Amino acid sequence: MAGEKKLFIETLGCAMNVRDSEHMIAELNEKEDYVLTDKASEADLILINTCSVRERPVHKLFSELGSFNKHKKEGAKIGVCGCTASHLGKDIIKRAPYVNFVLGARNVSKITDVLHRDKAVEVDIDYDESQFAFKDFRSSLYKAYINISIGCDKQCTFCIVPKTRGDEISILPELIVNEVRKVVSQGAKEVFLLGQNVNNYGRRFSGDEPKIDFTELLRRVSAVEGLERIRFTSPHPLHMDDAFIEEFAANPKICKSMHMPLQSGSTALLKSMKRGYSKEWFLNRVAKLREMVPDVSISTDIIVAFPGESDEDFEHTLDVARSVKFEQMFSFKYSPRPETEAEKFTNVVDPELASHRLHYLQAMQDEILDSITAQYLGRTFEVFFEELRSDGFVAGRSDNNIMIKVKGSEELLGTIAKVKITKVARLSQTGEIVA
Ligand code: 5AD
Ligand code: SF4
Repeated sequence: MAGEKKLFIETLGCAMNVRDSEHMIAELNEKEDYVLTDKASEADLILINTCSVRERPVHKLFSELGSFNKHKKEGAKIGVCGCTASHLGKDIIKRAPYVNFVLGARNVSKITDVLHRDKAVEVDIDYDESQFAFKDFRSSLYKAYINISIGCDKQCTFCIVPKTRGDEISILPELIVNEVRKVVSQGAKEVFLLGQNVNNYGRRFSGDEPKIDFTELLRRVSAVEGLERIRFTSPHPLHMDDAFIEEFAANPKICKSMHMPLQSGSTALLKSMKRGYSKEWFLNRVAKLREMVPDVSISTDIIVAFPGESDEDFEHTLDVARSVKFEQMFSFKYSPRPETEAEKFTNVVDPELASHRLHYLQAMQDEILDSITAQYLGRTFEVFFEELRSDGFVAGRSDNNIMIKVKGSEELLGTIAKVKITKVARLSQTGEIVA
């Protein structure tokens, strides 16, 4: 296209950020003629879409920015977007004066506006983007990320997200269902519903809309003809009521993998994290899920060494991990974040002990994972192929989120087939298509 400009974008953090990047790419393409490049040095515009959930030392962002600035094409612009943009705001330009604009995580719809206002800083966390009609861009032909809410209303004491993404607003169900229809008509088979707290859906809309909850939204989305699979992230264990679990179990389009961020197995620590549930509630929900959906895979997030974590508290976390046997675990050392309640907690855990606990938990989880994957051998799963690898394999996920690869080529992409597992490993299973 005449006048075409090049965009380089680096996306850090969660699926929300991936979707925000897609939105910015779409807006820039449609309204400003930008096309993507994977070489920052060739770009006319360099964007970093940042994450601030854990302390990625700020100087690392600045050293990266410095390097982009040094190697960029003459006249190229640099923009810092996302959660770190929200929380550092204009300080970013103070420290790196060559940055052209700063765009917070809740302001991505303003991308084509800040582009033309040098030194613009748009980081308002009360900005309502819940009804903004973004242009289309999808990283995958077969799978579509769809936002169902923006922001987060929880007050977890360790978490910076409410400060970077603001209060929670649900997107109207009609808009979501229309979006699902649209992506399915364009060839998507799977939708990934996104929100910071998806099963809190429907508590607040922009206007006086009739309330519907997440369970009802799942029913409406699954009614879209041609749609085959629904995934969502992240649900909150507190809001996993019976109706939700029953819909999850009974609805054949809902993929049988559930993310259940535990954070800690100690009820006392869960209280000081303000998570709203106890160890017993969590285990009770897991038991119900496993009973209703025997093949379900459950993933989790765990924070070790939160302030005040005693040996006994940590033992409760190990106890939950041992008894649940999570199919996937993301575990982190607690990292104090600015403007959070826990930042002021003084009973910090010794850093060496914190590292020791993290290693212990991860080593235990590796053993659990080995015993789980050993049981996959010889079993058959339905795999939705979405990734062509350079080594002659095509990879995809089973309904319950197991990554499986088979020998094959492009024609498999976007198709669903039955695959028998012939070789197991901790992170990726190998199989053969069976008739
Ligand atoms: N320190 C460490 N981990 C954190 N997470 C969120 N905030 C912090 C923090 N301050 C983890 C939680 C969350 C995941 C996305 O990141 O486990 O579920
Ligand atoms: Fe990172 Fe949280 Fe922002 Fe996602 S919402 S980019 S995880 S800080």
